[in-house]
Amino acid sequence: MDAQGVHIETHPREGEPVFSAGRPDPCTLVLFGATGDLAERKLFPALFELARSGLLPEHFAIVAYSRSKLEDGPFREHVKEGLKKFARTQPLDEAAVNRFAETIETASGGYDDPEAFQRLSQKLQDISKRRQTDGNKLYYMATPASTFPQIIQSLSGAGLIKREEQPGQKPWSRLIIEKPFGHDLESAKALNKTLGSALDEKQIFRIDHYLGKETVQNILVFRFANAIFEPLWNRQHIDHVEITAAEAIGVEGRGGFYDETGVIRDMVQNHLLQVLALCAMEPPVSFAAEDIRDEKNKVFRALRPVEGGDVPQHVVVGQYEGYQDEKGVKKGSRTPTYVAMKMNIDSWRWQGVPFYLRAGKNLKKRLTEVSIHFKSVPIGLFSGGGATCQRLQPNVLTLRIQPHEGIALSFESKIPGEDVNIGGVTMDMDYAESFKKPVPEAYERLLLDCMRGNATLFARQDSVEQAWGYITPILQALETDAGGTVHTYAKGSKGPDAADALPAKNGRRWSTL
Ligand code: BG6
Repeated sequence: MDAQGVHIETHPREGEPVFSAGRPDPCTLVLFGATGDLAERKLFPALFELARSGLLPEHFAIVAYSRSKLEDGPFREHVKEGLKKFARTQPLDEAAVNRFAETIETASGGYDDPEAFQRLSQKLQDISKRRQTDGNKLYYMATPASTFPQIIQSLSGAGLIKREEQPGQKPWSRLIIEKPFGHDLESAKALNKTLGSALDEKQIFRIDHYLGKETVQNILVFRFANAIFEPLWNRQHIDHVEITAAEAIGVEGRGGFYDETGVIRDMVQNHLLQVLALCAMEPPVSFAAEDIRDEKNKVFRALRPVEGGDVPQHVVVGQYEGYQDEKGVKKGSRTPTYVAMKMNIDSWRWQGVPFYLRAGKNLKKRLTEVSIHFKSVPIGLFSGGGATCQRLQPNVLTLRIQPHEGIALSFESKIPGEDVNIGGVTMDMDYAESFKKPVPEAYERLLLDCMRGNATLFARQDSVEQAWGYITPILQALETDAGGTVHTYAKGSKGPDAADALPAKNGRRWSTL
């Protein structure tokens, strides 16, 4: 029994996993932007964790590429320092750190310098022989999106990437890119065109780290490995769905980038729409990458457009007090740091069921979750006079993505006693506690999947464009007067009060933050 008096039992199944991920192929990972923040905070710690747990390929190397001059020894020390701060498993296992550091080699030069890419090519051939990585190459672009076309051109020019003509071709070359995948629909299409000019879609891995979160992956298992929820998962039983991604942190020194981006491009276009698609999609015909991605894409296609003067009826934006004093932010900026949206999916399953989304920075607390609000009971059997008159709360199923990863179900229960008194109870499953296993970082899973060539957890070209197709008219309206006011909210609050009006119009309210 835990503190709330709920007993959760887990029953891990004996035998092979339902879906065995398999050991990835030998390969060399070339990391562009190796001295950047993402590399230090997320990528090296994830690669180290994989190395420590013996999950990397037996033959593996990292080439850290940077425009600034790098040398193997000092750069390895720099990575070790970063691991002290950011590695998931502390205290650090010194021997494992040293073994990991040995896998890193460096290369430097401009992104537009053909000689630098010839040197890189030589280095990769040499590593392939010396470290037996079989010529397989994974390029990770941890650099600003503006550099992608140049890097791709230079890689192609040096013969380092080649379009895959047949599936499963060896040696393989793959490319990982980080969001933002464009700035709007037009630039997303241009980026996809650049990528498509050099590589087949199967070689392109667009990272959306939300898809690598265990709890996000569990949405599909929860929905399709349990027979009792799916019959309820539709407009007959669900009143509305709420998706929240609240952050307690602000723009954290990324003011310049953020001011060009804003919360809708930073969180909604990618992370939250991906989560929404997993909650709303139809059962795929199999668990294979394209089958899942096809179903998600249908959800994006069914999103009801919101444009022009309609935007303020569906979208409320806010900016936290003091945002304009952040370094890199323009005075008078209208960039939203908070958004609340009402979305509709025009599909058979979801007709009439609104999806409310909200995301923001500098809010009361860090909380990412999906709440499925079921309909009220059909008649008020317990209403009547006196003590039995109760206000019943509809059931809510909460998929907690972070923190305290887990799943909770609230329902009504009789409170012991002579009167019929009804109280709400919540059954709560805590992921880490129940399975007594730490929850891995998203990047660990995603990096391994690229090495395996499994694209299930990556965004596909058509979906990226569909999502931009939905978001771009909203952004356009917000950038003009048609989009309405940018409301100010206090740091550490639940966001602007104006957001309450979105669900309130239909007699609903946001869950308490
Ligand atoms: C990133 C955004 O993609 O996701 C950040 O650029 C945001 O602004 C981050 O803070 C949130 O990720 P997580 O995993 O902490 O929810």
